[in-house]
Amino acid sequence: MPLLECEDLCLGYPTPQGWKAVVHDVSFQIQPGETVALVGESGSGKSTIAKCLVKLIPVKGGQVRFKNENITALSAKSFHPFRKQIQLVFQDPWQALNPRLSASQLIAEPLDLHFSHTNTQRKVRIDELLDSVHLSKTILERYPSELSGGQRQRLLLARALAVGPELLICDEPVSALDVSIQAQLLKLLDELKQSRGVTLLFISHDLAVVQQMSDRILVLQNGQAVEWQTSKELFQNPQHEYTRMLIEACPKW
Ligand SMILES: Nc1ncnc2c1ncn2[C@@H]1O[C@H](COP(=O)(O)OP(=O)(O)OP(=O)(O)O)[C@@H](O)[C@H]1O
Ligand SMILES: [Mg+2]
Repeated sequence: MPLLECEDLCLGYPTPQGWKAVVHDVSFQIQPGETVALVGESGSGKSTIAKCLVKLIPVKGGQVRFKNENITALSAKSFHPFRKQIQLVFQDPWQALNPRLSASQLIAEPLDLHFSHTNTQRKVRIDELLDSVHLSKTILERYPSELSGGQRQRLLLARALAVGPELLICDEPVSALDVSIQAQLLKLLDELKQSRGVTLLFISHDLAVVQQMSDRILVLQNGQAVEWQTSKELFQNPQHEYTRMLIEACPKW
């Protein structure tokens, strides 16, 4: 049974000029333990899909099923149990981290929202989470502005992992970072997959970044799925002109 299934997903935004359709009839499935990548140029609708999966925007048409349960039209209250299971790591760590909270407060926040830990239990969990994203305890009393970009990304990841998600959605977690930090973060995600068995939906505009880590890849162009293939097939035998163009754009090594 797939962990997540999207069927004929249609998404968009209300604007002063009327409804703006952004994602058109997109379907894909993610099996437990798999890494699926969503790839496409800027504006193709990748973040829009991510947002609908955590209910930041409503589904206009089609269906989302999580463990075979239709979560498309759940109220905020009925969706609550799924919040723990589906976590989104945002693209922009600046927007996603409250600058007035210290690192320890930021990690405590999701823990307090979903569990009733004692102070000691909370402290143990925070240490454990810091460890799993390779952050040192020395950063605990620092504020986001006192951390590096890579550290802020790790802090966001720790927050997402705090509730023990089954599906982790990473929306372009590497684009703003330099290449060595990017590589470290990809390695860390891979580690977390192995150690926690978390299923990953990885979003990037860069096919080269997702190539090694994904089992299957969905290519989006202007809100439409133009290709849905195993990573290997996609590179060996791309079916769509747009995919060929993305592959051409990858650095050769
Ligand atoms: N809140 C909003 N209201 C209206 N339109 C929006 C809103 N958010 C996004 N859009 C539009 O939806 C389209 C898809 O945006 P989306 O953020 O999903 O793209 P993306 O593939 O994630 O791009 P990027 O790679 O730049 O992050 C774009 O045309 C964008 O302008
Ligand atoms: Mg985006």
